[in-house]
Amino acid sequence: MKTSIAIYPGSFDPVTNGHLDLIERGEKMFDSLIVAVLRNAEKAPLFSVAERVEMLREVTRQWSGVEVEVFDGLLVDYARKRHAGVILRGIRAISDYEYELQMALMNRKLEPRLETVFMLPGATYSYLSSKLVREIAQLGGPLQGLVPPVVEERLRAKVS
Ligand code: PNS
Repeated sequence: MKTSIAIYPGSFDPVTNGHLDLIERGEKMFDSLIVAVLRNAEKAPLFSVAERVEMLREVTRQWSGVEVEVFDGLLVDYARKRHAGVILRGIRAISDYEYELQMALMNRKLEPRLETVFMLPGATYSYLSSKLVREIAQLGGPLQGLVPPVVEERLRAKVS
């Protein structure tokens, strides 16, 4: 049953197969799913926001209900602007829970009408993170199965 507009926010530096797994699950649940890339001036990302958006658009183009956008400022403000009622986040393991709980409750304090929905990615992706993917790429390790082929190519080019 699809009922609403959801935002799936994150850094996506870069998008992994775990993110894609969650996008696929979210796309089935919501009328519209907005993958929102945070423009975060504080972090030193491997990929620029434009590159991350380009990769995300490429790997999600098979889903008509999924769009990719950049946001800055508070997530709750962006959600209001996009008329979204749900924030979608993935929880891989119990270690994610504390940070996610804190964010979800703070977002609820800032905007009580906004619900955070947690979904579990497939168990195969429970140990996968963009941070580890960047590290493996930088150290020349294998990336097959961790990221889509187009992202693997971009990673190889970026670190070579
Ligand atoms: O993929 P990440 O880096 O874990 O995503 C974190 C993200 C983008 C969801 C979070 O940092 C965020 O929402 N930032 C926007 C600023 C904001 O609203 N901060 C208050 C959060 S309670």
